[in-house]
Amino acid sequence: TDAKKPDQSIIMSQQRKRHIAEYVIKCLKQYGICVFDNFLGVQKGNEIFGEVKHLHSIGAFKDGQVVSESVPRPTQTIRGDKIAWVAGHEPGCQNIGYLVENIDSIIMLCNERRALDTYHVNGRTKAMVACYPGHATRYVRHVDNPNQDGRCVTCIYYLNKNWNVQKSGGLLRIFPQGESKVIADIEPIFDRLLFFWSDRRNPHEVQPAYSTRYAITVWYFDDKQRAAAKERYMQQVLQQSSKQSSKT
Ligand code: OGA
Ligand code: OGA
Ligand code: MN
Repeated sequence: TDAKKPDQSIIMSQQRKRHIAEYVIKCLKQYGICVFDNFLGVQKGNEIFGEVKHLHSIGAFKDGQVVSESVPRPTQTIRGDKIAWVAGHEPGCQNIGYLVENIDSIIMLCNERRALDTYHVNGRTKAMVACYPGHATRYVRHVDNPNQDGRCVTCIYYLNKNWNVQKSGGLLRIFPQGESKVIADIEPIFDRLLFFWSDRRNPHEVQPAYSTRYAITVWYFDDKQRAAAKERYMQQVLQQSSKQSSKT
């Protein structure tokens, strides 16, 4: 129905997308990190925020998992966020879908210019909607992709109006491992979009949050690294199953 069509007036122009892509290319090249504010504007930001709060209210968020842990520890001590994976076409998620489409457009413009380091992006994860529910919840220092799982760019969109770091904490602190090694403290403020390389160049932490803190993250895949990771995984599965069958 017409009511569900996005408002034409707030569809982002090609010109604006190209402008943002230029900026992202420049910052990623120079710092491996890029912060872009006022990405979608207050109206769209509010609509996305509304969808996220609704997902929260219906209990769609589960405890964040730490997949790389060989010895499981209580996850809350490592990451205290609650998450939901969203494709964007689910009922009540159209605006999250709109966000992800726009981030896709920016990344694809960078990609066309061969401007994403040595990467060639050919896919991404679903959107991870994350909530740190206050009470000093945090995510300890980590690297998103330490072992070449295919993810090359981390992209985070923040949703927190009037965020006061003094009162609510929740800073994202990045410890870049390049030449400059200047620590980057990023406030999780409303309608802010962040990009950074997902590998060991950018260890980072979410400092304890004392108010509810919302963000939406997508990770983009490099085609070759992702294909190699899938291949390694298949080989592992085959080896496991041949061990199993030799036991029986
Ligand atoms: C770090 C870190 C782990 C890794 O530098 O803080 O977590 O796998 N490194 O690179
Ligand atoms: C993550 C993460 C950072 C943030 O989910 O891996 O580091 O600012 N999040 O929410
Ligand atoms: Mn991370």
